[in-house]
Amino acid sequence: MESAIEWRRADTAAAAPAGPCTSAGDVLAALLDSVEGGELHIRPLRALLESGRFARFNEVGLALRRAFRDPAQRDYFIARMKPHLQLVIGVLPSGIQRHGMLPPEPSAPAPDALRLEQVSDAELRQWLVDDGSLIYGEFQRYELANYFDAIAPHLRPGGEMIDLGSGLGKVVMSAALALPFERCTGVELLGYRHAMALERRARLLALSQQLLAALPEQAQQPEAPLALPVGGAATLRHLLELDARIELREQNMFEADVSRASLVFIYSTCFAPLMDALAAKLARELPEGCLVSCTTFALSHPAFRLLQHFPANTLAWTGVFLYQRVAVPEGAALPPPAALYAPDPDEWEVRARAECAAYDAA
Ligand SMILES: C[S@@+](CC[C@H](N)C(=O)[O-])C[C@H]1O[C@@H](n2cnc3c(N)ncnc32)[C@H](O)[C@@H]1O
Repeated sequence: MESAIEWRRADTAAAAPAGPCTSAGDVLAALLDSVEGGELHIRPLRALLESGRFARFNEVGLALRRAFRDPAQRDYFIARMKPHLQLVIGVLPSGIQRHGMLPPEPSAPAPDALRLEQVSDAELRQWLVDDGSLIYGEFQRYELANYFDAIAPHLRPGGEMIDLGSGLGKVVMSAALALPFERCTGVELLGYRHAMALERRARLLALSQQLLAALPEQAQQPEAPLALPVGGAATLRHLLELDARIELREQNMFEADVSRASLVFIYSTCFAPLMDALAAKLARELPEGCLVSCTTFALSHPAFRLLQHFPANTLAWTGVFLYQRVAVPEGAALPPPAALYAPDPDEWEVRARAECAAYDAA
């Protein structure tokens, strides 16, 4: 179905009032403007290194990185990578590169350090899945505004929005401000990203309290009307109850309770190998009628009816799919697993060797 929405192509000037806020609408605009993006966030390597949960991830990653960095092991590194190319975003895994998540280590590794030869194919495969899913990325502010416009006609007031893999919390906090949900919940695996999201939430709530307290008395009535940016009508309670309406959890999304969700948001651009498992979980646990949106990769399961597909460079730089959880007809066949990107191994090798050479030369 073609969308009639006129898409924003870039951020526009802030809508927040330049002077003091005099109405609930002013406060809402100022709060929306204050939600920070997380595109340039810093990865605290030490926190990851010290986190017991990531000990094995680091160990396997360092074994792979040592093989990648050692020209004498290059052929072996290339050979081990080749069976798993469809799991790698780009040419070489992000984690082993200079900007990657792995901690630094001494130039001479400990004699008992894990060697790539000791890592099974299955473990390497899982490491590549994890490495890919830990990449950070998010919609720009104008893309998020496009997204809210796109889903608004399908929303009913109330209910719970859940962001699976919520990162620094921008989507969760923006949704709690702009959309008529009773509650918005973020679920994030990495502790340091969750901690950064909590800091942002605390800043948002402090600003909200400060701006609400400074409103003229008649504008402070809980039932004072508040127009939401996507067209819904609310009252000042929408902002007064912000604290209770935003929840951020440090949790694996596969363990998250989604049974009361009315919208599940997934920025799934780095989740290619996880899509089938995600679709199966959501089909099993979501209530009928719940909306699900994901980016880049489709959700291939008979329990999800495609409501709209927004191709790349319309709503956002990448494609966005909007589904609704529907009853599965008796005897419906499960679709084949989602197709993964499958690069040609020979072409990949040429590019990988060029990137290795560039690494050596740097
Ligand atoms: C591409 S970012 C998207 C962040 C946020 N949803 C947004 O759109 O701004 C994906 C996030 O998912 C997190 N993630 C990856 N695997 C996860 C899992 N199994 N459970 C929860 N979060 C996960 C990553 O750490 C990352 O912060």
